Amino acid sequence: MTNPSAIERVLFTEQQVNARIREVAAEIGKRYRGGDLKLVGVLKGSVFFLTALARALEIPVKIDFLAISSFNGRGAPGMVRIAKDLDDSIQDEDVMLVEDIIDTGFTARYLLQTLASREPRSVALCTLLNRTSKRIVQVPVDYYCFEIPDRFVVGCGLDYKQLYRNLGYIAVLNPDAALNI
Ligand code: IMP
Ligand code: MG
Repeated sequence: MTNPSAIERVLFTEQQVNARIREVAAEIGKRYRGGDLKLVGVLKGSVFFLTALARALEIPVKIDFLAISSFNGRGAPGMVRIAKDLDDSIQDEDVMLVEDIIDTGFTARYLLQTLASREPRSVALCTLLNRTSKRIVQVPVDYYCFEIPDRFVVGCGLDYKQLYRNLGYIAVLNPDAALNI
């Protein structure tokens, strides 16, 4: 069972998250009105945000997923590779990469470059959380729900050791409690 003391403080309540996702979905809907959009989610962190966003969008959407793994300690810092690729081609489609958080930017930069090389009509980036204070490489964030401080957060798909993804709110993890998990 989830230890409630592992949560230090709630940054955004479930209600705030849902309201903000609806606002962002409305903006996206305006930009892609008349066409359809392929949402590309990054497993597993973006799953909760992607499904909420998809349900709030009033334009036709397709969804597909990829998974990445990082080279821990090997190769260049922030290097990632695709561990599970998309099921379908994205050629000539309007694609939106959907992320849980853009932190250093390494993951998003790699994925945007990879997607762009497959000749989509367009590629955009949408993230639930944006932490610009930790950015190392610049990436164009087209849509984001919340800017967050430099604290480790969980919930709405974000995990600590695979836990807390299913929280409906976004919270700062208590570092002491986290050590006891
Ligand atoms: P980056 O932008 O390449 O640094 O990668 C961001 C990835 O690091 C995200 O997709 C998350 O998996 C993970 N991450 C970064 N900050 C947090 C956090 O505060 N909580 C949980 N996961 C995080
Ligand atoms: Mg992630």
